[in-house]
Amino acid sequence: MRAAIFTGETKLSVEDVTSIEPGPNDVVVRIGASGVCHSDLSFMNGTIAMPPPCILGHEGTGIIEWAGPEVTRVKVGDHVVASFVPSCGHCFWCLNGQSNLCSLGEETMLKPKATRGDGSVAISLTGLGTFADQMTAHEASVVKVDTDLPDEQLALIGCGVTTGVGAALNTAQVTPGSSVTVIGCGGVGQAVIQGARIAGAARIIAVDPVELKRKAAEQLGATDLVDPSAGDAIAQVQALTGGRGVDYAFEVIGLPDTIVQAYEMARRGGTAVVVGMPRMDSSVTLGGFSLFYAEKKLLGCVYGSAQVRRDFPRFVELVETGRLNLADMVSRRIGLDEVNDAFRAMVAGEVIRSVITHT
Ligand code: APR
Ligand code: ZN
Ligand code: ZN
Repeated sequence: MRAAIFTGETKLSVEDVTSIEPGPNDVVVRIGASGVCHSDLSFMNGTIAMPPPCILGHEGTGIIEWAGPEVTRVKVGDHVVASFVPSCGHCFWCLNGQSNLCSLGEETMLKPKATRGDGSVAISLTGLGTFADQMTAHEASVVKVDTDLPDEQLALIGCGVTTGVGAALNTAQVTPGSSVTVIGCGGVGQAVIQGARIAGAARIIAVDPVELKRKAAEQLGATDLVDPSAGDAIAQVQALTGGRGVDYAFEVIGLPDTIVQAYEMARRGGTAVVVGMPRMDSSVTLGGFSLFYAEKKLLGCVYGSAQVRRDFPRFVELVETGRLNLADMVSRRIGLDEVNDAFRAMVAGEVIRSVITHT
């Protein structure tokens, strides 16, 4: 099969590799489409440590071609969306309604997946590896969907959409009539904006220095736009909320400075949510007295607190009924060989999402 592999260099190597024989609980998926997410870049640039070689890609969809003898949840021919955290169904977290923290994740992450031409053995990002024409994954890492939606949209449900919409609906539980700010309007931020719109927020303030992102945000549900390069972002958000701050502030970049901004933008008694993935060695400093006196809730957010087996079908239905707009989140369709250019376009702020399509 062909796969885009992180080798420790700044560019992925797109090459022919030989799949390692799948295990009894594994499925082999023919990939239909895969989104290119900022987290893929974060594994390449050291934001999160990752031992190469590794097949990247963690946002994808496809059809099951082969299922191991112990696989029970899905079968050959099923259309599935990959879940970058597995959902085993019986660990402590799964049993407590927190399958987004499923303990099987650590095990699946390090499974060898393919042998390269030089004999080295590649693992796959989060046990997936959707930057390929084929993927071997644990059955707990895929969720069957029953829909005619195009693969280029379904792929986004695998990470960006679930993370963003889930952050609004599950993590923060945005309420009707509330005020929201979203700092960082890339693929994930746009999904937070849509989640807040679906939840019925009255005011959705999109903060991003790139005009194209602010325009997309407006189209997808933002009511107010803030350019942080045009003046202090916190002051601009406060001015829009009568000096009080917002009910819910989402940080969707992964930078300590903007996490502090989100905390500051939340009103007294409000909620700040860390959706972006900060560097492993970073830290955030907040005022001690404020932590007490402002009585804000500061929430972490892994994968939109999603219970993927419940939420993937739920999000598919929101798209099918026109409430969630994924068509306008796909900015560019590319082939696997163009994956490195997708990272360039992401950093240059040219796209909401690039999607690798195989059809
Ligand atoms: N203030 C506001 N927005 C900013 C700022 C800033 N200071 N700096 C950058 N941005 C914007 C960029 O212009 C871009 O639109 O943040 C956005 C980030 O978007 P993407 O690069 O498309 O990233 P995305 O895939 O949405 O992921 C965002 O979520 O899942 C995590 O690891 C992922 O941490 C990353 C975050
Ligand atoms: Zn992602
Ligand atoms: Zn589990």
